[in-house]
Amino acid sequence: MAADAWVKTPNYDTTDVAHTQDMRRGAVPESACHLMTKGLTAMTDALHITALEQVQAPIERARGLPNAHYTDPATIAEENTAVLASTWAGLAVGADVPAPGDAVPLTFLGQPLLLLRDDAGDIRVFQNICRHRGMILVSAPRRIEGAIRCPYHSWCYARDGHLVATPHVGGPGQNSHKGIDRATLGLIEVRSHIWRDVIFVNLSGDAPGFTDTHAALLARWAEFEQPIFHGGPDSRFQLQVAANWKLAVENYCESYHLPWVHPGLNSYSRLEDHYHIQEPGAFSGQGTYVYRQLQGKDGQTFPDFNGLGRHWNRGAEYIAAFPNVLFGVHRDHSYAIILDPVAHNQTREHVHIYYATPDTDPDLRVKNAALWKGVFVEDIFVVEGMQTGRAAPGFDGGRFSPAMDGPTHLFHAWVAGRIAARRG
Ligand code: FES
Ligand SMILES: [Fe+2]
Repeated sequence: MAADAWVKTPNYDTTDVAHTQDMRRGAVPESACHLMTKGLTAMTDALHITALEQVQAPIERARGLPNAHYTDPATIAEENTAVLASTWAGLAVGADVPAPGDAVPLTFLGQPLLLLRDDAGDIRVFQNICRHRGMILVSAPRRIEGAIRCPYHSWCYARDGHLVATPHVGGPGQNSHKGIDRATLGLIEVRSHIWRDVIFVNLSGDAPGFTDTHAALLARWAEFEQPIFHGGPDSRFQLQVAANWKLAVENYCESYHLPWVHPGLNSYSRLEDHYHIQEPGAFSGQGTYVYRQLQGKDGQTFPDFNGLGRHWNRGAEYIAAFPNVLFGVHRDHSYAIILDPVAHNQTREHVHIYYATPDTDPDLRVKNAALWKGVFVEDIFVVEGMQTGRAAPGFDGGRFSPAMDGPTHLFHAWVAGRIAARRG
């Protein structure tokens, strides 16, 4: 595919920026702002526009999601069902379970899950509970030799999830009972799909297939559809962020904040070197035309991925695959960040960096991980600041710059649309 076919040229309109700055300088008194907010609310009511419809309005008129979507556990519980459980949410990576028998227990949206690599090398996700009395089966990461034995009454499951032993279930010395049909009592499997090493799960079990859901993203990055290799222990790290996970997405997919939040990055990758990426209903993000490869002391670089087009010589893209996975691709490495929604105001970011070959320069790898960690840490104060700001009752969801916030608005509109559709 010719790169030019899908690279969008930015079109910056600073009218609204100037207007916003005027308001900050006090050109409009606070009392007037309050009256305007009240007036808008009244107008919304009069037109019977719901808050969610207003989020989905054209960007020039749209407001962001109301505060409750960041602060109210009940609202967020409804949202989680519509936005996380009924779609393909990122859970972990294949590198978390590198060898057959590796098992990792996880909690996602309050559900106990178990990642397990079976004997054939395939990764499966199960509900981490015994079919007998619902005991948690695996409580810490470990390599399972043989079968998974429930610590309560020792029912045993093969590594593919089948129930294989039920000791004394028919009475002392009787390991079977006609009322207990082992064939129907295997571990409960959760629908999963792996792409770019990320293990996606569809908890509701009824979402359209992953490859249909993300067909546009798979097509966009078809060139990167080749083996990727996790950089190992030095290429994974976690960040704890005191904010709702959506704010991390909203920040990630726009380049507007670069000059102020990432001055180092901005010194060579300026605002005007970026373009928006917008695919309604699926993903949004930003791209740059000026990616510079990291170099070691002797000028060494990471090997490139195979057969990439010219665009990627200096191009890189950063995409939030809705709902909760942030990807970055470059000619010589890529990364995935899984946003774990630990609580309505807590997110754990799991960062994993990948390369084109299994063996890469360790010093350069460490340097690359440190570089990205520095960038992602720079984002934390704004993400957390927006979370704190959502306790202000006067905040009405805010406005979007029609020129700069398109990718962020697209995500808001997607969230609002899914909740509205669920409400019917
Ligand atoms: S709860 Fe697992 S064997 Fe009883
Ligand atoms: Fe950022």
